[in-house]
Amino acid sequence: MTLHPGLEVVSGLIGTWRGDGHGEYPTIESFDYVEEVTFTDVGKPFLHYAQMTWSPSGAPMHTETGYLRIINGTGVEFVLAQPTGQTELSEGPLESKTDGFTCELRSQVHNSGSAKHVEATLRHIELAGGVLTTSFAMAAAGVPMTHHLASQMHSIS
Ligand code: HEM
Repeated sequence: MTLHPGLEVVSGLIGTWRGDGHGEYPTIESFDYVEEVTFTDVGKPFLHYAQMTWSPSGAPMHTETGYLRIINGTGVEFVLAQPTGQTELSEGPLESKTDGFTCELRSQVHNSGSAKHVEATLRHIELAGGVLTTSFAMAAAGVPMTHHLASQMHSIS
């Protein structure tokens, strides 16, 4: 399958990544987690995205799925569905680097009737030196925008 030319700048993401993360928030106990994400090329100008996380002992934790849309090689729209009852539409500029890219994405969030209320999220994604680094902040549960997650992953396939 030929990669859509618009995806060249993020082509290094395609495949599966695995690594460790740490989570915190003022309202909860801090925790460690293992994260695996897969970006799949389906021949269109976006990548399919699937994430799973586990506790260090292997119990399932958060999972999310979506689509990473690249806009004119200079912007990202990350369309996400959360099993906790949110949909997250994250957008921001894409900065290309010699061996990867970096982007900071701000979201509009919609919450289902029973979901814990998340007002907005802020994601930072960086691919550099063969390491995929993510961080995530949210305004939720009455707390203003505050750090929740950070992880570093390496390519496993
Ligand atoms: C790596 C992915 C994630 C992991 C491992 C993770 C893990 C956790 C854990 C362990 C808690 C505390 C226990 C609980 O309430 O379940 C928590 C709370 C929470 N998380 Fe996450 N989370 C992740 C991603 C997200 C995302 C993407 C969102 C929002 C879109 C989110 C929103 C929340 C909220 C709203 C709470 C509740 C805070 C409160 O009760 O005050 N989390 N998360």
